[in-house]
Amino acid sequence: MKNIIRIVLIFGFSKALLLGQGILSADIEQKVDVLLSQMTFAEKIGQMTQFSGINEDYEALVRKGQIGSFLNVIGAEETNRIQKIAVEESRLGIPLVIGLDVIHGYRTIFPIPLAASASWDTVLIRKAAEIAAKEAASAGIHWTFAPMVDIARDARWGRIAEGAGEDPFLGAAVARAQVLGFQGEDLSDPLTLLACAKHYVGYGAAEGGRDYNTVDVSERTLREIYLPPFKAAVDAGVGTLMSAFNEIGGVPTSANQFTLRTILKGEWGFNGFVVSDWNSIGELVAHGIAKDRLEAGVKGLTAGIDMDMEGRCYTSDMEALVADEILSEELINDAVRRILRIKFYLGLFEHPYIDENIQKELILHRDHIQTALDLARESIVLLKNEKSVLPLNRKKLNSIALIGPLANDKDSPLGTWRCQGRQEDVVTVYEGLKNKFGDDVKIIYVKGCDVKNNSCSGFDKAIKAVQKADVVVMVMGESADMSGEAASRADLNLPGVQAELINAIAETNKPIVLVLMNGRPITLSNIESKVSAIVEAWQLGIQHGNAVADVLVGDVNPSGKLTATFPRTVGQIPIHYNHKNSGRPNISLDKFTSKYIDLPSSPLYPFGYGLSYTEFKYTGIEVENNRLAPSDELVVNINVKNAGSCDGVEIVQFYIRDLVGSVTRPVKELKGFQRVSLKAGELKTVQFRIPVRNLGAYDLDMNYTVEPGEFSIMVGGNSIDGLTTTVEVVRLK
Ligand code: BGC
Repeated sequence: MKNIIRIVLIFGFSKALLLGQGILSADIEQKVDVLLSQMTFAEKIGQMTQFSGINEDYEALVRKGQIGSFLNVIGAEETNRIQKIAVEESRLGIPLVIGLDVIHGYRTIFPIPLAASASWDTVLIRKAAEIAAKEAASAGIHWTFAPMVDIARDARWGRIAEGAGEDPFLGAAVARAQVLGFQGEDLSDPLTLLACAKHYVGYGAAEGGRDYNTVDVSERTLREIYLPPFKAAVDAGVGTLMSAFNEIGGVPTSANQFTLRTILKGEWGFNGFVVSDWNSIGELVAHGIAKDRLEAGVKGLTAGIDMDMEGRCYTSDMEALVADEILSEELINDAVRRILRIKFYLGLFEHPYIDENIQKELILHRDHIQTALDLARESIVLLKNEKSVLPLNRKKLNSIALIGPLANDKDSPLGTWRCQGRQEDVVTVYEGLKNKFGDDVKIIYVKGCDVKNNSCSGFDKAIKAVQKADVVVMVMGESADMSGEAASRADLNLPGVQAELINAIAETNKPIVLVLMNGRPITLSNIESKVSAIVEAWQLGIQHGNAVADVLVGDVNPSGKLTATFPRTVGQIPIHYNHKNSGRPNISLDKFTSKYIDLPSSPLYPFGYGLSYTEFKYTGIEVENNRLAPSDELVVNINVKNAGSCDGVEIVQFYIRDLVGSVTRPVKELKGFQRVSLKAGELKTVQFRIPVRNLGAYDLDMNYTVEPGEFSIMVGGNSIDGLTTTVEVVRLK
């Protein structure tokens, strides 16, 4: 498809959003052309070069106009200082764009992205991104390498922590919210950040869940599963994308003309720029598709990577290749044009510096801390609550034995990519319970064991504490460095001797409340039956302990729902709710069906799952019109009642299945969701209005089509339980 660029005069619109729709500003395009026409080859390459940190050599290069961007330069004073060299001492005065990984907060650290996605609250997720942007921008940052929108169906992959889980529809909704949050209404507002959707693309599908490993997905899977969140980010006006480390089917994504030029810059009409991941162009040599950095640079540039992050592959050596007509200068001009365009959108030419006083007012502002608490509360998922052991009965409670290596740990709640987050800002679970109870309840805290080492020497002390207490709360899981980049795990059980400690304490027959802290789904089959309640608390940021305490005592009724499947064992991975049926679905006891002989195929906790302290009942699913044309809207009503005795929030989920098509379809696909608050006893009719166009798929020729035929619909509180009905899509005459 030809990319038609529309250029218009823009007044008073969100420029970023228009950029997402392929509409450019005539004024900016003209300024870009004028500047480009004055640039030397070395200055052009400079704009396409990004380095990490500053030193004297880099300062000299900035002076010569030979660096266009930095990452990891922090603080308003320092960013202003280097910017001054670029703007006031270089020949053309082109400002630098300074980037940083502001992933889940700058100093006010929010829940890790996987946790935040469990809130399904795109309004609050957007607000958190907006706050992260404000704080980072006040410290001189212009650009964040976020959101990470990689779909992850493999919990071994440590970077599952950084994204919104396994589903492309939810992933797209979260991506949109984050881009709008970071970039705001107007990118030139000094307190917004340029966003970067990463890692383009398929990075989460690494074989064996091993970071940076080979990926081999079909074009169909790419289009249906991995691309939608990137498309949503582009439609929301994201200014940049980051290419990834992995290959897909023999072609590294940092040299992939199909994904970068054909799809992103062609089909989608993306007019922002693409930055490589850290040396991902240089790594084309290790991948074995380039003999040296220069050849790697040519491949990266030809594929469509506009800026080279720390790769040193875009160099003045390219000039000779242009002279020999091996490389077209137009490719370089296009890359520079895109980078300058974004610098103009950011307003960097008009206001290159940040007011150094704003950071003091903004960093850790009380409203920011409140939002961190709100999002932390909503991110918690209640996985088990036998005999309603939770919420803890405050009136009858005299003492709590608080056990576990993470119960008073100030580091883990910050999670991976904690930016400027500090341990001193963190509220641990121990502190959260203290804040909650003061002196009313005695909290006997014993660590019991470490996360990683295998010593059981603390067990006895922990057991003694338990014997003296009314209730046992155990806080266990992974330390922060066990998820994130380069932190894949092959075994997903609780690390170290934590499971042994649970077993030892279970012998006392006291009910155990297990609070989990982890950056990924972990396997719990070995301890699940030993505990009465499981609260999945992830790594919730600076307000971690307060949010957990609120949920434990019932001041907050948990409402989070899993966005990534919890397997029974690692052997089930990859496991995800939207799998295909196969020719031999496991619906009978027949041996020759698709199953394991030693375990059920179903997960321990499915996608979309999460309990509440109240109970929600679904009745009366009704379709307004069950014969629909592809241009119609599907309208489904369902009654949801809070049948329990406390107020709560239910995340109502809408799934479809295309029963017969020209290609196989998943057994379920999420197509809508709503967070619904219900007072105790209250009933609401929840309505979904879904454009029939959204029920389509890629046909045999890879065209997105809604094929006529029957669709089943399921609405419920998770991906397994729900009420069903059917509709028919009919062909237009
Ligand atoms: C990561 C990116 C990150 C970049 C810059 C890389 O190692 O893969 O996600 O944005 O470093 O810090």
